[in-house]
Amino acid sequence: MSIEIGPLPKHITEWFAINARDLPWRRTRDPYAIWISEIMLQQTQVKTVIPYWERWMRELPNIQSLAATDEQRVLKLWEGLGYYTRACNLQKAARLICENHSATFPNDFEQILELPGIGRYTAGAIASIAFNQPKPILDGNVVRVLTRQFAIEGDPKSPLIQQQLWDLSTRLVTSADCPSSLNQGLMELGATICTPRDPLCHSCPIQRSCAAFKTNQVTAFPQIPVRKKPRQRKFIAYILRSGDRFLVRKRSETVVNGNLWEFPNIEILRGQKTLPAFK
Ligand code: ADE
Repeated sequence: MSIEIGPLPKHITEWFAINARDLPWRRTRDPYAIWISEIMLQQTQVKTVIPYWERWMRELPNIQSLAATDEQRVLKLWEGLGYYTRACNLQKAARLICENHSATFPNDFEQILELPGIGRYTAGAIASIAFNQPKPILDGNVVRVLTRQFAIEGDPKSPLIQQQLWDLSTRLVTSADCPSSLNQGLMELGATICTPRDPLCHSCPIQRSCAAFKTNQVTAFPQIPVRKKPRQRKFIAYILRSGDRFLVRKRSETVVNGNLWEFPNIEILRGQKTLPAFK
């Protein structure tokens, strides 16, 4: 590959050592605690996650406690974070770790990757942050940093660009003295400096080598194709009460928010003037 990474790992890790935010999951090397933080941080902002993570760690402080509790308690602790399969997968994985790894979080990358709910990114994050292994990560923040730094054109979700980005992330982390600081530094740069709009290039430790900055095109990267607007849908929910009891039903397993409880409801379709029959 013709792309040079040069002193980037050094610049990123030195910047991280001074500028890392003091986040609660950064005060531990416990792989369980780091795993929980990484799953919560998928699709969810740091400031939202902090109180959820703190409460979770108080109530379910280790793998055994998560494996032994009932699913409804897990979902209650997750309530409000969304994407509830994440919580169900955490418990499934905790039970598997108890059965197959004597309740000790595995430090082998392939074994981490086998756990439910853990993909390549999360396995890399846990292996690098908890065990300081030189495993790459690639999420939205890292994609932004890398596509800007190297002015990588094209849809970052396409297989070719994905391959290029994973290769770059691998080369960076395997060249770093501290893989944990390199990966967290990449995440932190993306979250606090190399932001989607109005990036703080004047404070960036890798501005001098940034190809997009040199041509004044920072916010033109990554080149994400415009997405179709989500379609708004409307529902009417029925609240049926008998004394202090409410009628709720369980959603089917195969739909969004599957297996969760809800008030009976019906969708109002566009242009529909009369209420549909209740099933
Ligand atoms: N986003 C994903 N992982 C993170 C972490 N460990 N710290 C801060 N933001 C993150």
